[in-house]
Amino acid sequence: MVIAIDGPAGAGKSTVARAVAAELGFTYLDSGAMYRSVALAAREAGVDADDGAALGPLAAGLEIGFDGRQVLLGGRDVSDAIRRPEVTADASRVSVHPAVREALVARQRALIEAGDYVAEGRDIGTVVSPEAPLKVFLTASDEERARRRAAETGEDVASVLAAQQRRDARDTEREHGALRAADDAVELDTTGLSLEEVVARVVALARERNLAPRSKGDPGDPERTSPQFVREGSPGSPSSETPE
Ligand code: DC
Repeated sequence: MVIAIDGPAGAGKSTVARAVAAELGFTYLDSGAMYRSVALAAREAGVDADDGAALGPLAAGLEIGFDGRQVLLGGRDVSDAIRRPEVTADASRVSVHPAVREALVARQRALIEAGDYVAEGRDIGTVVSPEAPLKVFLTASDEERARRRAAETGEDVASVLAAQQRRDARDTEREHGALRAADDAVELDTTGLSLEEVVARVVALARERNLAPRSKGDPGDPERTSPQFVREGSPGSPSSETPE
């Protein structure tokens, strides 16, 4: 069973999904790390990120694994290498190719079938697991997303923002597995919210839907969370109200 957490880069998916998984005792699945691993492997093999014909078989043949917070490519720890800016840019390019997506979606489905997961990505609720009993679509303003990413990587906000806009456009406009909220997703705008508030809301939704047992002093009690950051059932644009 899977709780799907989708949304654009920098909306807080990884941090939120990891924390929700820990809180509920589920396994966390970072599907973006799989696309990043394909991008890294392609670079290392000298395969162009636009060469879909070569990337499909390459993606299908890769051994991608997770060990705690580590991402393993053929048994090698690539957790840092896949976060480098040039690999980040290539990941967005390799992820447009249908053969790459098919290979990775098949692996994601196989993992999810075998346990209870909180999986984050762009297409978990729409393609990987349309039957997921809880789908959350996380958004935040463009500036806030860029600020968060810059704080993580040490880059300057303006260049993160520019790269983010290019990736957002590719993610939303691609033909296969495009970034969009599922019709039945709950949209949470995390702009100005603390991690704790967002996690509490997602955990509360999971418990309301009986996906996880209620605990004593349940921090996900909906009474304890501010209602203004949730617009339930409103599939939304990943771009923000904030002017560029
Ligand atoms: O979430 P992230 O930034 O680690 O994702 C890296 C890239 O992978 C991003 O450009 C979009 C792509 N991706 C995707 O196409 N589908 C997913 N389910 C997850 C990520």
